[in-house]
Amino acid sequence: MAETQLHHRHIRHQGDDMKHTQLGTRITLPLLPALLLITNTAIAGPEIPTKFTYKGSIANTRHNLTQRPPDNPNNLNGVFMDTVRNNYGEVCVYCHTPHGANSQINAPLWNRTLTQAGIDGTYVTYDSLGTSTLTASVAQPGVNSLTCLSCHDGTLGMDSIINMPGSGLYDVNQETSQNDSFLNDWNNASGTDATSHWGFGANNTECLSCHSNPGFPGASDFSIAFIGTDLTNDHPIGVDVPTGRFGDDFFAPNGASSGANWSLEYYDTNLNGRADKDEIRFYDTGSGARVECASCHDPHGVSPDGNPATEFNPTFLRISNDASAVCLTCHDK
Ligand code: HEC
Ligand code: HEC
Ligand code: HEC
Ligand code: HEC
Ligand code: HEC
Repeated sequence: MAETQLHHRHIRHQGDDMKHTQLGTRITLPLLPALLLITNTAIAGPEIPTKFTYKGSIANTRHNLTQRPPDNPNNLNGVFMDTVRNNYGEVCVYCHTPHGANSQINAPLWNRTLTQAGIDGTYVTYDSLGTSTLTASVAQPGVNSLTCLSCHDGTLGMDSIINMPGSGLYDVNQETSQNDSFLNDWNNASGTDATSHWGFGANNTECLSCHSNPGFPGASDFSIAFIGTDLTNDHPIGVDVPTGRFGDDFFAPNGASSGANWSLEYYDTNLNGRADKDEIRFYDTGSGARVECASCHDPHGVSPDGNPATEFNPTFLRISNDASAVCLTCHDK
């Protein structure tokens, strides 16, 4: 199989079926004049241009879903976004809650709704492609992938959480399905209230109706971050540590740690006996140690030298993929 196809461009095949038709029906006219005032002053760095610094904290990355770059907290874009998702005014709450976390998934204080494909086990996995040379079979995505897919498969609102900030804004039904009338109980501080609770969507719908459309000045193209429920063109996840091929095709992880319901095997590059955030790992949440999204990525961002003033590795990677270093951590090639 060609290296290029495996170079983890999640979205490549979706370019073909992109339809630029739905935009007119999605955007209400009063918003358009405001958009024309927006200019794009994106900085270099991560591969998709961004206004965030990608330094120091997740608050300075696109995983800050309040979408107010710190240099311009009241920017037009932030208020504009308030029509299509709740602005909770906090960074962590889109993913975590101190209380009332999702009891259906063993992820840290997880505040997000589970995807239907996760509940039903209907993600289309890598090996269903039929051309793979895998030795292990590919299972459904595990916990440490379902977290990411709750946004990146495009089926749920970015703001679909169980426990909104403040008291009394909790709905247990949100654990397994997005309830827009509950989400409507939230009032944005800007005074502009969300009437839609959008996610990436698919093929030019929802957030992608602007963020995959060259007609919207400054709206960076996010289509590559929309992975969908078909994982056949992504690096396999839910795939076991290839124990039988250690020393041959794969390097064996040299670290292991465990808790009550989980264990990790990891590449302990600094030999401190701990899985640090800049160390690639396999997750075992009950079905064996496997590759999952968080094996390679840390959604909070990782500084390559531990210095908060240094820009994070691109695309939330645990280590930079320069010279294919991510790949060559596991693969002995
Ligand atoms: C109608 C068009 C439109 C829609 C719908 C839209 N956006 Fe945006 N978005 C923009 C524009 C335009 C900008 C850039 C504004 C600027 O440069 O200040 C932007 C900026 C952003 C940024 C900051 C980008 C960066 O890194 O600098 C993020 C993150 C973002 N949008 C996420 C979303 C999400 C998530 C949704 C869906 C919930 C969404 N957007 C829906 C038009 C849109
Ligand atoms: C976009 C989603 C997202 C946001 C926002 C987010 N996290 Fe996380 N966080 C995760 C995911 C996913 C994991 C599990 C990672 C894994 O599978 O190992 C996690 C794990 C953690 C953990 C435990 C494991 C670790 O990596 O240390 C802590 C602590 C944590 N997050 C704190 C925070 C704090 C504090 C904030 C806000 C400043 C925050 N997170 C914002 C997604 C997020
Ligand atoms: C709460 C929703 C949410 C969750 C949960 C989430 N993401 Fe994201 N992610 C986003 C949004 C919105 C963007 C901005 C779109 C973009 O950058 O193209 C993004 C962007 C990214 C990017 C591109 C960053 C860049 O530099 O352009 C990567 C990589 C990524 N996410 C990986 C992950 C991984 C891995 C996880 C799980 C550990 C995860 N995300 C969990 C919403 C989420
Ligand atoms: C085996 C390691 C690995 C796994 C597992 C993995 N990724 Fe990635 N991911 C990467 C690398 C490396 C890149 C950078 C690719 C590039 O620059 O072309 C990347 C890039 C991305 C991007 C940015 C868009 C792009 O394709 O460049 C997103 C979004 C993303 N990953 C999300 C995820 C999600 C969600 C999962 C789980 C479903 C996941 N990744 C699993 C290694 C991995
Ligand atoms: C966390 C460890 C890990 C990382 C990092 C990793 N892989 Fe893999 N990779 C695996 C495992 C495990 C398999 C499944 C092996 C098997 O069962 O045959 C696999 C499978 C593959 C396959 C075989 C697919 C097939 O159809 O036979 C290719 C090619 C591949 N990876 C390329 C890459 C590339 C390119 C990167 C870097 C972007 C990468 N891998 C990063 C662990 C990893």
